[in-house]
Amino acid sequence: MKPIQTLFLVFILILSACRTSPEFSYDIEKTAISDKAMVVSAHPEATRVGVEILEKGGNAIDASIGVQLALAVVYQNAGNIGGGGFMVYRDKDGKVKTLDYREKAPKAATRDMYLDSLGEATDKSRNGHLAVGVPGTVAGLFAAHKNGKLPFKDLIQPAIDLAENGFYLTKKQASSLNSKREDFVKYNTTPPVFVKEGEWKKGDRLVQKALAETLKRIRDNGQAGFYEGKTADLLVAEMQAGGGIITKDDLKSYEAKWREPISFTYKGYEIHSMPPPSSGGIALAQLLGSIEPYPIAEWGFQSPATTHLMIEAERRTYADRATHLGDMDFYKVPITQITNKEYLKNRMADFDPNKASLSKETEAGQVKESEETTHLSVVDGEGNAVSVTTTLNTSYGSKVIVSGGGFVLNNEMDDFSAKPGTPNFFGLVGAEANAIQPEKRMLSSMTPTIVEKDGRLFMVVGTPGGSTIITSVFQTFVNVVDFGMSMSEAVQAKRFHHQWLPNKVFYEANTFPDSVLTALTQKGQIMEERGSIGRVDAILVTEDGKLEGGADTRGDDHAAGL
Ligand code: GLY
Repeated sequence: MKPIQTLFLVFILILSACRTSPEFSYDIEKTAISDKAMVVSAHPEATRVGVEILEKGGNAIDASIGVQLALAVVYQNAGNIGGGGFMVYRDKDGKVKTLDYREKAPKAATRDMYLDSLGEATDKSRNGHLAVGVPGTVAGLFAAHKNGKLPFKDLIQPAIDLAENGFYLTKKQASSLNSKREDFVKYNTTPPVFVKEGEWKKGDRLVQKALAETLKRIRDNGQAGFYEGKTADLLVAEMQAGGGIITKDDLKSYEAKWREPISFTYKGYEIHSMPPPSSGGIALAQLLGSIEPYPIAEWGFQSPATTHLMIEAERRTYADRATHLGDMDFYKVPITQITNKEYLKNRMADFDPNKASLSKETEAGQVKESEETTHLSVVDGEGNAVSVTTTLNTSYGSKVIVSGGGFVLNNEMDDFSAKPGTPNFFGLVGAEANAIQPEKRMLSSMTPTIVEKDGRLFMVVGTPGGSTIITSVFQTFVNVVDFGMSMSEAVQAKRFHHQWLPNKVFYEANTFPDSVLTALTQKGQIMEERGSIGRVDAILVTEDGKLEGGADTRGDDHAAGL
């Protein structure tokens, strides 16, 4: 080797050594208590950004915008600018509204676009360019910002810095990037920054220059920095290179929408959650309304009687979801009828405390594990509260990263019912209400929720987890209200899930002792252990007026107070 080559090699080695810090560890807090303000999110860097924005005088909306943008950089499997989300916002005076920035079907989408020549559903709704819905996140951030205090450029700059200078990967992130390596190669014409020689390791520093440039265009040009100009050119070129159908017109005409929340009561608590196109609020109202007449606190936490009741409520709720729910801009969703307490009483009329109901003879697909979607909860010093769940759908969405733009595109089209009765990735089936139509929003399970007690803020809660989102929020809430847990205890408690089809109760390892499993099986419940369910990030206002943040131990989630 010539001396100049040796020198170059040494330089490269030093450079790569500087970019890795195997000893690096984030200081992650799962429980935080504060008198004033709180941020809980899926990544310590994102929580830090939120806290710093609050310290600079930003409000909860400002912090939630900064956190979402930071997550698009440091938590790329779910945090995003190429996906969509929902926000529930309660201002300090108690006014609640919700923001819908869910992705939409492109204008060229057709009802049967994912069926093959035999009429069977293909996997094109899950991976690659055709799976991508028109992204809504950036429009959502700008719509939310109308309620913010700080200039948008101050909220996006921390994300730009994280993308430009890099951040250290956690062990979970390194292994998630490694697990998707083949997909990144398969679904991208240019290998994205996520593909490197060898394996990613904890402490590797990930720098995303192209993403930093996209974020700068948004900083400098506002919403048009994403939906028009160079970013739109790059996105549409990516679509054309891979057989996608999103056009510049689709991008330019995307709009986020403010919607009235789904509001209902449970044992004196007032709950506000997301209306369609999310099923979350309606399903949560159905679940809590179905169990309200029963003395579950007396029956005990995860006792056979309580668990059986909750499973039966879940079975009926998910059956309704499959039939009745879709984008209400396109389909008349019978919201009042199916959330009405009399309707729910009738729905539970055939509940037998000793015997499981039958879902259907035919089983749908399996519920799979994936760390899709992400949630964040923020309360500021003035008492404004924000609950945001945002998603690319499955982990890293379509696996397509916009060439030259550096951001991951969603695969949200799979949340439509590609073929009635055929399960999607989450094993969920749907019908006419959720059929594909141009510009329609696909049905979601995201359940960002804010709870009040005696007219005051009580809880901010939400989680990722696909179809398990609704049951995770449901169980976390009753853990506090009926079983007297702290926020952190409620978040860390084990979970179970039933979604009508398949007719199985999925539960996390070590949820139930053998005696409870036997009792539930004897009632006819079909029990099946699976990996973790949900990653709840929540805030509780405690009796002494403090804020308790609970960050889920199932992930790198981090709670920090001010
Ligand atoms: N993509 C998951 C959901 O919206 O429910």
